[in-house]
Amino acid sequence: MTNGLENVVAAETRLSDVDGAAGRLVIRGVSLDTLVRDGTFESVAVLLLDGLFDADGPRDVAALQSALGAARAAAFGQVAAIDATILALPPVDAMRALVARLPDGEDAATALRLLAAPAVFLPAVLRLQQGLPAVAPDAALSQSADILRMLTGNHPTPEQTSALDAYLVTISDHGLNASTFASRVIASTRAGLTSSALAALGALKGPLHGGAPGPVLDMLDAVATPANAAAWLNAALDRGDRLMGFGHRVYRVRDPRADALKQALRPLIASGQVDSGRIELAEAIEAAALDILKTRKPDRPLDVNVEFYTALLLESLGFPRDAFTGVFAIGRMTGWIAHAREQALEGRLIRPSSVYIGPLPRAA
Ligand code: ACO
Repeated sequence: MTNGLENVVAAETRLSDVDGAAGRLVIRGVSLDTLVRDGTFESVAVLLLDGLFDADGPRDVAALQSALGAARAAAFGQVAAIDATILALPPVDAMRALVARLPDGEDAATALRLLAAPAVFLPAVLRLQQGLPAVAPDAALSQSADILRMLTGNHPTPEQTSALDAYLVTISDHGLNASTFASRVIASTRAGLTSSALAALGALKGPLHGGAPGPVLDMLDAVATPANAAAWLNAALDRGDRLMGFGHRVYRVRDPRADALKQALRPLIASGQVDSGRIELAEAIEAAALDILKTRKPDRPLDVNVEFYTALLLESLGFPRDAFTGVFAIGRMTGWIAHAREQALEGRLIRPSSVYIGPLPRAA
C-alpha cells in the first residue's frame, strides 16, 4: 500500500532535485559536479538559504563565514557544560543532546546557531571522550578548516580542507530523504528550527540512512584483503545481510555523490595523505559487490551509494568511524534548515491519513 511512501509526492521544493533514473542531483539549479568543484560549506549554505530568511539571513560567502566564526566561538561557551552523562553517549547522540540545549526559533539567528554549534560540539565530544582537552574555535577560519583543527589540534593541509568541503557540499541536500522529511514535518507545526533539526538528527542516525558509513569500514576491516572480497560478500548475503554502502531508494543507477567523493579523495591520494592499500581494498570490494549483486539480486539494480566513499574520505581526515554520522549531520543541517524554512513559509500542516486495519469494537 503506502510502502515507505515510495513515489508519494509530499512537498514542492525549489531546493534540490534527485533524478534516480539518470543518476543526477541538482541543488538550486546547479549540478552537483559544479557545486563540488567550486563550492565550500559556506557557499552552498548561501545558495540553499537564499531568500528564506529576512535581512538577517546569510547574504554572501564572506559575511556568512565571519558570522559562522562568531557563532562557533559563542557555541564553545557550552563545551564547559559537557558532562560525563553526555560523554557516555555515542558521538551523534552526544551532539543531539547538546543541540537540544540550544534555543528554538524560526529566525536567522537560530539557523546560524544550528549551522555553527554542531561543528564545535562534535570535535569537542570526540576529544573529551579520549581524555584530551577541547580545542577552541578560530573564528577567522572557514568552517571546514576549523572543524579539522578542532578535531586534531593541528592546522589541516589545503587538501584536507578541500576534501571536507567537498564532502559537506556533496551531502548538503538531497530531495525528500527521511531526515529532511522529518525536518519538514516538524516545521509544518511551526515548532522551530531547533526542533526540526533534532527530529532530523534522530532520523539520520539509523543504519538505513546516515548511519551506514561506519559499518562500511567494519566491512573493509572484516574483508581485510582484496582476494577475500568475493567470498566475504557472498557469505554476508547468504546470512541475509545487506551490503552497507550499496543500494538506494531513489537511484536505480550509480549515486552521483559516490563519484563526487571518490574524486574528492584524489588530491589526498596523490599527496600521500591516504593509505593507498585502503583505497585498493575498497575498490576491490566495490567491484566484487557490483558483480555479485547483479547475479544475486537480478530484479533490483543495486549500485554504490554516497556512504561507501564517505567512509573512506572521513577516515582519511582522521574522524573515528562512530563520528561519521555526526559529520554527515553538520553538512546536512543546511538542507534541513532550508527545507524547514520552505515548509514553514509555503506549506500547510503535514497531516497524512492512515487506514485502520485493527479490530472493530464488539457489537454490544
Ligand atoms: N545489499 C543487499 N541487498 C539489498 C541492498 C543491499 N545494500 N539494498 C537493497 N537490497 C535488496 C533487498 O534485500 C531487497 O531484496 P529482497 O526483496 O530480495 O529482500 C531489494 O533489494 C529491495 O530492497 P528495499 O528494502 O525495498 O529497498 P529500499 O528502497 O527500501 O532500500 C536502502 C534502500 C535502505 C538504502 C537499502 O538499499 C539498504 O539497506 N542499503 C544498505 C544501507 C545503506 O547503504 N544505507 C545508506 C543509503 S544512502 C543514505 O541514506 C544517505
